[in-house]
Amino acid sequence: MFTRRLFLANASALLAAATVRPELWARGIMGNSQPATPAVPLLLGVDYYPDQTPESLWEEDAREMADFGFTNVRVAEFAWSLMEPSEGKFDFAWLHRATEILHKHGIAVILGTPSAAPPPWLTEKYPDVLMVNDEGMTVHAGGRRFTCPSNKVYRRLSLAIASEMARAFADTPGVIGWQIDNEFTLQRWGRCYCKFCRAGFQDWLRTKYGTLDAINSKWGTAFWSQVYTDFAQIPVPLPSNGDPNPGLALDYDRYQSFANASFLEEQLVMLRKTCPHHFVTTNNVGAPVDTLDLHELYRNLDFVSHDNYPGFIQIYFSGSPPEMLPLIVGMGHDSMRGVKDGKPFLIMEEQSGKAGQRFFSPQPYKGQLRLWAHQAVAHGAMGVNYFRWDTAASGAEEYWHGVLNHDRSKSAGYDEIQQTLKELKTLGREALESSYSASSAIFFDLDSDWALQIQPGQSKLTYQSHILSWYASIASAHAGVDVVQPDADLSRYKAVFAPLQYVLSEKQAANIRRFVDGGGTFVTSFRLGVKDESSQIVRTPLPGLLRDVMGVTLKDYVPLYGEKVGVTFSSPLSGPDAECALWADLLQPTSATVLARYTGPYAGEAAITINSFGKGKAIYVGADLDAASLARVMASLMETAGIKSSFGIPPGVEMTMRTSGEKRWVFLLNHTSVGQQVTLPGAFTDASSGATHSGKIELKAYDAVVLQPA
Ligand code: GAL
Repeated sequence: MFTRRLFLANASALLAAATVRPELWARGIMGNSQPATPAVPLLLGVDYYPDQTPESLWEEDAREMADFGFTNVRVAEFAWSLMEPSEGKFDFAWLHRATEILHKHGIAVILGTPSAAPPPWLTEKYPDVLMVNDEGMTVHAGGRRFTCPSNKVYRRLSLAIASEMARAFADTPGVIGWQIDNEFTLQRWGRCYCKFCRAGFQDWLRTKYGTLDAINSKWGTAFWSQVYTDFAQIPVPLPSNGDPNPGLALDYDRYQSFANASFLEEQLVMLRKTCPHHFVTTNNVGAPVDTLDLHELYRNLDFVSHDNYPGFIQIYFSGSPPEMLPLIVGMGHDSMRGVKDGKPFLIMEEQSGKAGQRFFSPQPYKGQLRLWAHQAVAHGAMGVNYFRWDTAASGAEEYWHGVLNHDRSKSAGYDEIQQTLKELKTLGREALESSYSASSAIFFDLDSDWALQIQPGQSKLTYQSHILSWYASIASAHAGVDVVQPDADLSRYKAVFAPLQYVLSEKQAANIRRFVDGGGTFVTSFRLGVKDESSQIVRTPLPGLLRDVMGVTLKDYVPLYGEKVGVTFSSPLSGPDAECALWADLLQPTSATVLARYTGPYAGEAAITINSFGKGKAIYVGADLDAASLARVMASLMETAGIKSSFGIPPGVEMTMRTSGEKRWVFLLNHTSVGQQVTLPGAFTDASSGATHSGKIELKAYDAVVLQPA
């Protein structure tokens, strides 16, 4: 099994390799102020599948892509069966021919290692590589991502094909970088529960805890007679006629993240050695998708790559109010930017038409494709690669529409995408690699998320929907929001928001305490600090480690199942009464002041409090407020914290800002189907047309405008 020791050994090899990295990476092409080496163009490209396209069309494709304005492609991430048609027999000749043609037309190439889709010969010969899902069923081959991340055979064969590929393309002109694998864990089953994962988990626990005594005590295994006397007895959380131990289940989530990250690390160490001139990344999607700790996954990669499909959000969040959709997309971007502490990220896959597999999203309205790419840049993207060049006429994604239609005619979005590329090129490298400006931060904490999935408390309570509603209220202040982990450096923010911070470590509590003490505004919701990192409930009155900072003690915590509970506000939050939906923490102020009280069965109990602590303020929102009240309360709290945009922004319009030294780029994005007016606090120049604006600016339906102070 892949142990922590092996992982550390690989990590040090990686560090050693990193010290001899060439200029390109010493200067960093991504996100610092140094000019990039000309070898890496602005990454305004397209995902291309020569493996699925007759060779007779490659030349035409490359010429047309170059004429279109694309600077790069990503290829081969699902081409394992063509590159290794039988075990140990490699064939890269076709990919060399494709790369040569692309290079001849000035198109740079990002190569994908193909481990997300192993060929049939592999699963036929080594059926043990197949993953086992959370019901204990072995997942069948025939789709993709059906393999176990801990399985040594799968790891060996994945590394072998990636290594052969790396050797074959290390010095190939035009090749600039690598995407390892493809969207780790993003399929129906995000976790494997097979015997190899069980052994890997036991090894991982041995490294983490050292002794069985420590495990037994941290998990509290005396409960239900679960005291382990041998590591080999420790199970994985498969169905067992009774819920698993919460500490074990949370550690298993963490182990699965580790298993995937260490799987990636094997290929990364190899790529650093074999292809020291190339960048290395992997692609994934951001919050609220939560199967994997992306901080762990991206730790040693050069930059984050994000796959952006607003159409998928349309499909999967079709029950949400339409105005939520751009906010969910925005949160995805913000969280991906947060994975590498604000560094610009690449959109590796951007929607280029109707998107979907069995069922698909509508054709984006005129303007939306341009708007969505600008939105990505507005949130910190340094480049955009469209998915995909042509539309597949066979395979599971025949309805995932590309830049070209099935008959290779121009798609409905063709002209708009081309215009977008031109505009992004005009915007230029300095803007695309500039920093996103944020005055507040929201925590996205996987421990709390996962622990709440294990024990939600109220059957409808989910971390994901709660954090989305908080993010939406905060982002609506148009003052920039970072999505960070609770142990991030908070000193750069005026306000920090911690919805459902159910698990809280001592280190995180100390970080929050320091932030408030230093003058920050900290806003949290119900269920704060209920559990420690081992998923044991703290043995002090709640909110545990932060009682003094919050200035309250919990009288009780109450899941709600439909009874009418309301909230009534007092100054400075005065306004219409709110409804409280899924949860009510009943607060007993010790030093805090009450800002709102419950009505109904808990009438008179404190629902929202504010406490002065050091130079800052700590606000406890104990009630699960309805969306409109939450938005109103957040807007008021943000204003008190000094967070307010100087622009007049109507609902449905989004504003963000990026900066580089003294330079500023203001992005105005109209997500509505009608024209909108934004009030400007001064004179601005349109970065694309050069026109100047002051007073008011008109945005057409689905328009995006980038302004610079005149
Ligand atoms: C992404 C994935 C691509 C393709 C695309 C459309 O999630 O990386 O390979 O499947 O979605 O479904």
